[in-house]
Amino acid sequence: MKHRRYATEEEKEQDGSRRRFVQGAGIIIAAVASKGVSAGIEIPDDGAEEEQPEEVSFPPQVGDRLTPFARSKRGKPIRVEDVPVASKQILALPLDKKEGHIRHARTYNQLMIQRFEDLDNMDESTAERAAAAEGIVVYSAICTHYGCIVISWDKKQQGYMCPCHQSVFNPRNSGDIVSGPAPRRLPSLPVVIESGEIVVAGDFDTPVGIGSHVR
Ligand code: FES
Repeated sequence: MKHRRYATEEEKEQDGSRRRFVQGAGIIIAAVASKGVSAGIEIPDDGAEEEQPEEVSFPPQVGDRLTPFARSKRGKPIRVEDVPVASKQILALPLDKKEGHIRHARTYNQLMIQRFEDLDNMDESTAERAAAAEGIVVYSAICTHYGCIVISWDKKQQGYMCPCHQSVFNPRNSGDIVSGPAPRRLPSLPVVIESGEIVVAGDFDTPVGIGSHVR
């Protein structure tokens, strides 16, 4: 078998996670479809859920910090300066800093962070969010088509690209669809900066997950 080479350990982990998700997605989506439900896929993380408090399975809560999705870096809050300007998105999970828990990598907790300086090139709502957080914007990393992790960055279209069917979303325009089969934009999560750390400031602006029922 041919093995892929990775530039960094983070890239390897993110790709591994995407593969695990894609392998399971067919079964999960079939099950979801058979029940007439269009959202709510859950991704098992490390099997340690039973030993942990209920709060680790909550979606992002106000006051949560964000920590890298890559296992080797999990646990430390991401600071503004950890997010390079004009670079591709970083995958992240919510971190309950008060209790010291990383929330499980369920659908609603898979996030991506990006940092911009060109706020003039954004729609009003995105510019407001970015201005409140030193240029940081945070979106759900779950594609609204079939739920793959939107792990790629399309340099040409300057958008997040889903590797499954190439939907592209514009982070400068509220995560709106640029191209591809995705039925609706990516949900955005408001954040602020406290002592240099990225902090969750509210709920997603639209429901996380697959399906076209919300726009
Ligand atoms: S799952 Fe993302 S484009 Fe199909």
